[in-house]
Amino acid sequence: MCGIVGCILKENEKAAPVLFNCISMLEYRGYDSIGMATFNGEIEVKKARGGIESVDAKLNLKDMDGSFGIAHTRWASAGKPTDENAHPHLDDTGSVAVVHNGTLENYSELKAELIKEGHTFRSSTDTEVIPHLIKKFMDEGLNLEEALGKCTTRIRGSYAIAAISKAEPDKLMAVRKYSPLIIAYGEKGYFAASDTPAVLEYARNIIRLKDGETAILTRKGIRILDEKGEEIEWKSKYIDWTPEMAKKEGYKHFMIKEIVEQSCAVKNTLIQKASIEKIIGEIGDVKRICFVACGTSYHASITGKYLIESLVGIACDVVIASEFRYTAKTWDENTLVIFISQSGETYDSRMALKEANKTSKTLAIVNVAGSAMSEEAEYVIQTQAGPEIGVAATKTYVAQLTAIYLFAGLLAENDEVIDKLYKVPAYIDEITKKREDIRKLCESYDFKGHAFYLGRGFSYPTALEGALKLKEITYIHAEGYAAGELKHGPLALIDETVPVFVIIPPGEDYTKTMTNLKEVEARGAVVISVGAEGDDKIRENSEIFFEINPEVDDMIAPLVYIVPLQLISYYVTLAMGYNPDKPRNLSKVITV
Ligand code: G6P
Repeated sequence: MCGIVGCILKENEKAAPVLFNCISMLEYRGYDSIGMATFNGEIEVKKARGGIESVDAKLNLKDMDGSFGIAHTRWASAGKPTDENAHPHLDDTGSVAVVHNGTLENYSELKAELIKEGHTFRSSTDTEVIPHLIKKFMDEGLNLEEALGKCTTRIRGSYAIAAISKAEPDKLMAVRKYSPLIIAYGEKGYFAASDTPAVLEYARNIIRLKDGETAILTRKGIRILDEKGEEIEWKSKYIDWTPEMAKKEGYKHFMIKEIVEQSCAVKNTLIQKASIEKIIGEIGDVKRICFVACGTSYHASITGKYLIESLVGIACDVVIASEFRYTAKTWDENTLVIFISQSGETYDSRMALKEANKTSKTLAIVNVAGSAMSEEAEYVIQTQAGPEIGVAATKTYVAQLTAIYLFAGLLAENDEVIDKLYKVPAYIDEITKKREDIRKLCESYDFKGHAFYLGRGFSYPTALEGALKLKEITYIHAEGYAAGELKHGPLALIDETVPVFVIIPPGEDYTKTMTNLKEVEARGAVVISVGAEGDDKIRENSEIFFEINPEVDDMIAPLVYIVPLQLISYYVTLAMGYNPDKPRNLSKVITV
């Protein structure tokens, strides 16, 4: 995944520093190379392998001239992260510049065809075919708008593209299919970007382009064409996210800021209660529920299954979105398929949603307003975590859980569960306030090799999510296991070098989990427990014990017990000298 930005500013404004700030906000989408192109009589391109700050120190990106241009931050997919493969890409004559997020399936054929016609390629990216195609069509007599239109009929795959041409200065073209793209306007001018945080500092009137739509931005305004090339009327939405929400605000990393913000994410999502009640009223008869999601959202979905089955008694399945195509499609009109996605743009989830819409009722739980899935699902619950920049999901996870708990509690007409939710922000704050203690522990303990996370029932998905948080940012191999499954294999791996995190809240399963805790302790494992404050039995059997407010029972535990696990992953990452906001090879939104 990559991030793209384009802007066309008032004539006396310099685009480069604005583009630089915008693209910096998209670094979470990719950070192996960076580049910018601006226009000042000629198209000037500066690009190189490396993070934004280091490339800027070397090339002085902010100093480029011109009041319009494009920028890109890359996460390599086709072609290694090298200077040549960094975007923007140009045609042979340097008169068309393009940035692209996505993957082109047929670029090899197109490249071969263009080489035969005499075009010279400088990179091994799929993107480079785009400026060559645009220039070829412009040479055949088309204008930039028509040439880009024709280009999109030739390329196959996913794309968000921003393009400029020397032949038609003061025009910025943007088009999307399957990769996200927004258009925005504010005081300084007009913008196109992969995601809202990029532009918040400059523009808060946002238009989300739909698949196949093209935007033409000039100093006179915005035109939008549909897939057939017909001009359509557009409406913007004023977004109330502030620029500060997408900044670190004094925290060292986005991840720790977002962990601390979790109590607010829960509080704000609870405000959705009335709209969730309305959805439940409209949905009608539901005999079966199926959750579809990826990554952290998949773990929230498993919690959803446990909750709805125990509270409501409706049978629930949970499917990983990329595996969806291999499942027997037995859904009907009485099935509710719930899609959980932070971004609302994940490719596999979107494809599954498209299928589900043909047979069943669909509900999307998304954090990004106006995202593709929020437009495509029949019903939408909008979580209120605010923008999440850290690649490892934290506050959007607890916000998803809050929405699921509200949905399940309201469906079951269970006031007790709903009432408990209102106490969750305070429980979370109690933990994040003590984060210094967790930091010291993580610095003094040598986490290495492998780790296991064990939990039962509601705590099983917490074990999965705890393990995911550790492996994605510390690169320590970690596995989450249903505690009862331990003896069917993984117990063979347990010895005195292996830390085992045991999630053991008070409740029905406490005794069973305690048995599992003792099993691993007997095999010499380093037991790190998360349980109720003051529980001496846990303390006696654990090397490290993270104590949580004893009012938090097993049912509500997923919303709270994940917090110390996130903090542990964060501080272990720091102790190991890695950047938790930018895990290697990973990316925040997967649109391919
Ligand atoms: C990526 C992100 C994860 C996220 C997953 C699903 O892998 O790095 O944090 O959980 O995608 O994303 P979604 O936006 O659909 O929740």
